[in-house]
Amino acid sequence: MKKMQFRNGDNIDAIGLGTWKSDPGEVGQAVEAALEAGYRHIDCAAIYRNEAEVGTALSRVFARGEIRREDVHITSKLWNNAHLKDDVEPALKKTLSDLGLDYLDLYLIHWPVAFRPGLEGFPESEPDFLTPDQAPISETWEAMLAARDQGLTRHVGVSNFSIRKLDRLAASGAEMPEMNQVELHPYLQQDELLAWCREHDVLVTAYSPLGSIDRPEEMKGEDEPSLLENEVIGEIAEKHGASPAQILIAWAVARDTIVIPKSTNPQRIRQNLESAHIQLDATDMDRIRSLDRHYRYIGGNAFRTESGLYGNIFDD
Ligand code: A2P
Repeated sequence: MKKMQFRNGDNIDAIGLGTWKSDPGEVGQAVEAALEAGYRHIDCAAIYRNEAEVGTALSRVFARGEIRREDVHITSKLWNNAHLKDDVEPALKKTLSDLGLDYLDLYLIHWPVAFRPGLEGFPESEPDFLTPDQAPISETWEAMLAARDQGLTRHVGVSNFSIRKLDRLAASGAEMPEMNQVELHPYLQQDELLAWCREHDVLVTAYSPLGSIDRPEEMKGEDEPSLLENEVIGEIAEKHGASPAQILIAWAVARDTIVIPKSTNPQRIRQNLESAHIQLDATDMDRIRSLDRHYRYIGGNAFRTESGLYGNIFDD
């Protein structure tokens, strides 16, 4: 398994298990199946509302003794309703308690958008948001760094940050995030963002690498292009005797990104990990490069306000 390296030399497996949309009742067995198959990297978040079940599965696996806590990289994310600086540590501690852990490997600011503290669910009107003045992202970030210094997480980073937002954080003089987790697949290749992150030594994780077909209907656009049914991806899959999903995962790994395909199906969980053995050649990479169409599956619609408080969250 290819590993990517944090600035302090710690490693993270390039392929991890995604748990967004993994329902309670399914996510626990998915995590166990993944660890048994050889995954050593699980991607979680408080808003997935399944961390307690992930925690139960982790403790069952660790109790068996073959896989130890320190063998597994576990990421989680700070939800938007806990951006005020005094709310970060309690949110992280709640996630640790749900996961049954005493530290995380990586904690990310989930979105560059702040909600009113205590807001459950998604905002319905403007007062459900905090303005950037009320909840400066630089202060949220300082609280993330403080949580790391306290040992609650080994690494800290962000998610859904554009170049402009990363630049703004850099301008504040703060230490840069160690990771930026963003939507990334052949229809949204984000070359400029990748180059920026490479230059600043920020690792990148690709989410929704398979097109997240299982997300809620209200998040879907009309006539969405399918990644798994793309003809070019299908031809390359046939050439390698692989599945389209495996080609999408191998492509992400070949670009030096980390990738977190979600599955709750034990056979697909194993298949996705086996993508690690697929070597795409220059022709494959060129063909996939030509598929870029700046298409977002995750459009950030839930974060649009009447006054345009957060503008276009992706700055594009
Ligand atoms: P399932 O959980 O039933 O396996 P993303 O990672 O982009 O969010 O995509 C997740 C979706 O892709 C889920 O619907 C998941 O279904 C499906 N999926 C995961 N692995 C594969 C695979 N190897 N082949 C086909 N579909 C897959």
